[in-house]
Amino acid sequence: MIDALGRVRDHFHQAGYTVAGVRELLGPVAGGALARDEIVPALRATRGGSPLEAITRLFWLQVGIPEAGPLTDDLVAAGLAERSAGEVRATVHVEPLESVGGDPGIGYVVSDLKVRPGGEAPLRLDHVVGAGGASANLAQLVVHRPVENALDLGTGSGVQALHLADRARKISATDVNPRALALAQMSFALSGLRDVELLKGSLLDPVRDRTFDLIVSNPPFVISPDGRFSYRESGLPGDEVCRRLVTEAPSYLVDGGWCHLLANWLHIGGRSWEERVGGWFTAGGCDAWVVQRDVQDPAEYAELWLRDSCETGTAEYRRRYDAWLDHFERENVTGIGFGWISLRKGGTTVRVEELRQGVEQPVGAYVEKIFDGMAGGERFSTGALRTAAGVVQEQIGPPGAEDPERIVLRQTRGLRRAAGVGTVEAALAGVCDGTLPMEPLLEAIAELMGLPADDVRAHAQAVLPELIADGFFEIAGR
Ligand SMILES: C[S@@+](CC[C@H](N)C(=O)[O-])C[C@H]1O[C@@H](n2cnc3c(N)ncnc32)[C@H](O)[C@@H]1O
Repeated sequence: MIDALGRVRDHFHQAGYTVAGVRELLGPVAGGALARDEIVPALRATRGGSPLEAITRLFWLQVGIPEAGPLTDDLVAAGLAERSAGEVRATVHVEPLESVGGDPGIGYVVSDLKVRPGGEAPLRLDHVVGAGGASANLAQLVVHRPVENALDLGTGSGVQALHLADRARKISATDVNPRALALAQMSFALSGLRDVELLKGSLLDPVRDRTFDLIVSNPPFVISPDGRFSYRESGLPGDEVCRRLVTEAPSYLVDGGWCHLLANWLHIGGRSWEERVGGWFTAGGCDAWVVQRDVQDPAEYAELWLRDSCETGTAEYRRRYDAWLDHFERENVTGIGFGWISLRKGGTTVRVEELRQGVEQPVGAYVEKIFDGMAGGERFSTGALRTAAGVVQEQIGPPGAEDPERIVLRQTRGLRRAAGVGTVEAALAGVCDGTLPMEPLLEAIAELMGLPADDVRAHAQAVLPELIADGFFEIAGR
């Protein structure tokens, strides 16, 4: 089977089976329809009979294709397709993967066939999910630095391990689902990724007493009343799976090691979600950055995940929806947050925040800088500062007015934060280029504004740590 997978890889290369290749073949209309689970336009766009059209019909549209010599022979021999009623049909979904930087050829991801709304078969309980928006989200967050060893916890199709291959010398991948481990192994073989250590077991159990430079996980974070599907639900109550991972992961990291995960957390009536989730890090040992990217109310959440398992409109739909809402009501849940958690072993700074705006991707390219800023703001004294690249100033006020009502510093890069500032900070942003120490700059600003130098100095000392932590200013020399 391994040899056959190698031959299939050659067929894929020859056919141009890449993300860009499929996108170009389908075009925006058929591609857009397929994203909405409508295959008719894509069927029309792939009628030519080329190898790329055959492969796309097989794995994306999940329709039978005619025998096509060595291509279909090798697909069957590799266990990716089977012969049925004179045709060849896919047994799994195989999709090309590009890197977060757009490198087109980092591998192929094997997962279970897509179950479409109204499809004949329901989702299997051990379904293995493919590379979707969430997995791309996590891949974009992961720090860009070479590491000796990395752990992909809950590997599923193996997609995160494939993303890690450009930076980790050794990769371990775990899952509770044996089917996931089998499909991940096929993904690795098909992608030419050798020597990934595959381990069966729950959470960190399979790697007890070991340490890693990098841990990544897109865990089964979905909070549901019954925990039916292992690809998304852990069976633990509420958001316990995420709490457990972030409290246990630090013991599995080397000093300076990183952990990144996607998570859901509950908003409980009468409690601040920031304090509740921030409380997961009280044991210390790591700098932690928690970012809420989205919040849904209980009804939106139940609908989203019933849609995800293609149960919308089924006979069971109303009962399940009702049970989900009952569950949330009992637990006094007012909303469910979705976001990222990153840890860096060694510090004690915890930052919990909401960022709903589009951010520059991939975050992993500058996440170290974010952590340095988070920890460095408090350490700021009087050294030289540099205004971060891409910071612009906006002035808001009535037309024609001499002075603005509000000054905003806005990042056009990175996390794209905005901060309302005073004239002192705005003036500093205009002159801080990393070459001059603060003292003469503050004196010059005080003189220009006709203010006592001590007041300007005290103001700067009060407001700059936060602006440094938020990435508007950087400590020169870092
Ligand atoms: C959301 S999928 C993520 C798959 C893949 N890593 C990705 O990024 O797309 C979650 C994975 O965690 C696995 N899983 C579920 N419960 C687990 C547990 N207790 N310990 C480890 N893995 C678990 C599931 O089988 C599934 O493959």
